[in-house]
Amino acid sequence: MQEKKMTGEVYYPSQEAIDNAHIKNWDELNQLATENYEGFWEERANELHWYKKWDRVLNDDDKPFFKWFEGGKTNIAYNCLDTHVKTYRKNKLALVWEGESGENRVFSYFALRREVRRFSNVLKSLGVKKGDRVTIYMGRVPEIVVAMLSCASVGAIHSVVYGGFSVEALNERLDDSHSKVLIVADGAYQRGKVIPLKEIADEALKRAASVEHVLVVKRTGQPVNMEIGRDMWLHELLNLPIANQPFEMEELDAEDPLFILYTSGTTGKPKAILHTHGGYMVGTYTTMKYVFDIKDEDRFWCTADPGWVTGHSYLVYGPLLNGATIFMYEGAPNFPYPNRWWSLIERWGINIFYTAPTALRGLMRFGDAWVNRHDLSSLRLLGSVGEPINPEAWKWFHKVIGKEKCPIMDTWWQTETGMFMITPMPSVPLKPGSGTRPFPGIIMDILDEEGNSVKPNEEGFLVIKNPWPAMVRTIFNDPNRLVEQYWTKYPGYYMTGDSARRDDDGYIWIIGRVDDVIKVSGYRLGTAEIESALVSHPAVAEAAAIGMPHEVKGNSIYAYVMLKQGVEKTEKLIDDLRQHVSHEVGPIAKPEKIEFMDSLPKTRSGKIMRRVLKAKELGVDPGNLSTLEE
Ligand code: PRX
Repeated sequence: MQEKKMTGEVYYPSQEAIDNAHIKNWDELNQLATENYEGFWEERANELHWYKKWDRVLNDDDKPFFKWFEGGKTNIAYNCLDTHVKTYRKNKLALVWEGESGENRVFSYFALRREVRRFSNVLKSLGVKKGDRVTIYMGRVPEIVVAMLSCASVGAIHSVVYGGFSVEALNERLDDSHSKVLIVADGAYQRGKVIPLKEIADEALKRAASVEHVLVVKRTGQPVNMEIGRDMWLHELLNLPIANQPFEMEELDAEDPLFILYTSGTTGKPKAILHTHGGYMVGTYTTMKYVFDIKDEDRFWCTADPGWVTGHSYLVYGPLLNGATIFMYEGAPNFPYPNRWWSLIERWGINIFYTAPTALRGLMRFGDAWVNRHDLSSLRLLGSVGEPINPEAWKWFHKVIGKEKCPIMDTWWQTETGMFMITPMPSVPLKPGSGTRPFPGIIMDILDEEGNSVKPNEEGFLVIKNPWPAMVRTIFNDPNRLVEQYWTKYPGYYMTGDSARRDDDGYIWIIGRVDDVIKVSGYRLGTAEIESALVSHPAVAEAAAIGMPHEVKGNSIYAYVMLKQGVEKTEKLIDDLRQHVSHEVGPIAKPEKIEFMDSLPKTRSGKIMRRVLKAKELGVDPGNLSTLEE
């Protein structure tokens, strides 16, 4: 417990929460991890299975291309499955799933390993080998977990593409990763409707030359086109004798890639963030254990989609590494009614519930009665991720969902960090809206333009000063961009792209992105993606996109469009353009508002000044305009 009185509104942990937590004394752990940083992570790594131990914990000879547990041999999938199958957890449930229409499937650790082995054999029989890229495009169904773990088992690099993305986004990701195999579902259920994933994939595949095989998972059963020689039904392959042969996992180097995940950055196309087997495993295992305080009897529900990093680290890998039971739900939170999530918590006895502020704000609107119909007493811990949580939503979550007895773990991290970086633990005092402090041993700072630390309560750029095991290793196909984007502005420090301030207690408050990334409903989109989708429409000459505050989504997209000469400005065209963006990128990128402009504000060097557009929209002072062209 803190000795000095803390500032602001503070929620202190109960003695029971402290007594039950893995980490009872944060300061002690922080001191230990700071004094012996490598030793701290080495000890954590020692809790996992390695075919061979590392020669060096951290190799920082070639900054910022750090290596962790170099020389070590492991496989994250072994640690997610085999480790547990060898213990009393063999028949424990690894995965409990509910479909949107109410059907259930459950897998014990033994059963999940069996499915992964069969799937791995299929991949091997198609010639998939270590280092090959496999793209996965489906909804939240158990097969997505099996597919990810199978790629890891054979040493292939998975690239999961969010099922809500559309043709262009999928095509770009298939192409950039040179994927050999695409694993796709025929369709996905969302709000009672079918999203025709295979149909979208067929269109995307027209321009993805590297793809040799398409494995189709039957989910919805609607008719789909199967291209002979390329497309195969997964269930048919899984029944072949070859799938049921014995299977041995690949023994991989700690630094062998586990996955790439595309995410939006400051400029241009989304970039492929690459994570590895060893460090990512140690990072997600440890943070999951300490922050969500995972115990054998827990049922953990992370509502994120596996298409985003939260789904990778804390729906699949983190919980399975800890031998927990994962719960996964296929559909929308308010389908068929706004109590769907709460009914799932009650029905499945969920103990730990991890979700996003945007979802909470969306569900809050329906009123407390929908929640209060359900017995949520199984809950022990709550979590939030993806964007700053506004104190109002925090308090609703705490009171109405957690009945004032469940601490909220507001976890700040990124696709690039792989694991929680700023986060409470159940035994620390909480302040609504702050993720508290950096994870023990992680050193962060808030800097001004010149690189000096700002004073308490002043805003600045959030940076990370020391390497951590689950950090991004490189950008697949574009290593220079890793250096430029993250390590150049403040040499030697990792630049997060967020602005933040630190209060008198050292608690960090995230303000938001300082680059051209827009968080819409917690999803990360780049202005560049939206703009290039708009410009790909035949009527558009130029476009600019900005994020505007939105009550539920956090931000929504406003776009400003200059039409080609002679094109008429009509309402119908606005509709067409919105549809066009939705078709190209995905429905999440659809602009809320589109305005036609005769010119766009630019710097003399031709860069669009989005902040001028935003200031105009917000009715505030646009600040320094000296670089504006006219
Ligand atoms: O701006 C921060 C915001 O999400 C960004 C990272 O987005 P992404 O890579 O998609 O990962 C999201 C899930 C880890 C960050 O730069 N962000 C994430 N978590 C929080 C947050 N902002 C405030 N509070 C959080 N807890």
